[in-house]
Amino acid sequence: MDENIVWHNYAVSKTSRSEQKRHKPCILWFTGYSGSGKSTVAGALESALQQLGVHTYLLDGDNVRHGLCRDLGFSDADRVENIRRVGEVAKLMVDAGLVVLTAFISPFQAERDMVRALVGDGEFIEVFLDTPLDVCEARDPKGLYKKARAGEIKHFTGIDSSYEPPLAPEVRIDTSRGQLNDSIQTLLSYLKEHNIIG
Ligand code: PPS
Repeated sequence: MDENIVWHNYAVSKTSRSEQKRHKPCILWFTGYSGSGKSTVAGALESALQQLGVHTYLLDGDNVRHGLCRDLGFSDADRVENIRRVGEVAKLMVDAGLVVLTAFISPFQAERDMVRALVGDGEFIEVFLDTPLDVCEARDPKGLYKKARAGEIKHFTGIDSSYEPPLAPEVRIDTSRGQLNDSIQTLLSYLKEHNIIG
């Protein structure tokens, strides 16, 4: 950090932005293998939250890699940088008072913990899509596992790149059991019980 760069405090604060809304800000951080259901569950939850008048934004791995992170690949170092950038963006959105949903494999505990440390207590909700790898591979919605098994994609998570399951996620969902609506209700209940939404 350049010693000549200082932090500028403005009159409008995170608290005053948040008080203009009828909900509290947070990050719902979805993590899990490719095909585990991150985008599906996050997208359906965002729709449900919109119906309730909650101000949301969804950051999605595939989409972010078309712009903000277009220079990054899938080496461990690039994944670390991917999550660092997304974490900082999500933090800004929390500062703006939003309920942020993120759908990234985010395979390493250290980076998920790093994002947790960027926001306030209770504002980081780690949602582990604990769908077994064999189920994700059988789904193979984009045909990527097939390519990885054939050696056409290197460093594919679960095949030749590691995934560290969350140690203590706030919410755990196995999408191979139950319906999509069950997952949405579980998450809405969590948000209500923790006074994030009314
Ligand atoms: S990470 O690990 O958090 O930086 O990954 P993320 O930004 O979420 O990007 C994952 C999506 O990229 C596609 N893809 C790969 N995933 C894993 N490993 C490799 N090598 C790879 N190459 C491309 C894949 O579509 C992932 O999307 P999801 O939605 O997880 O299936």
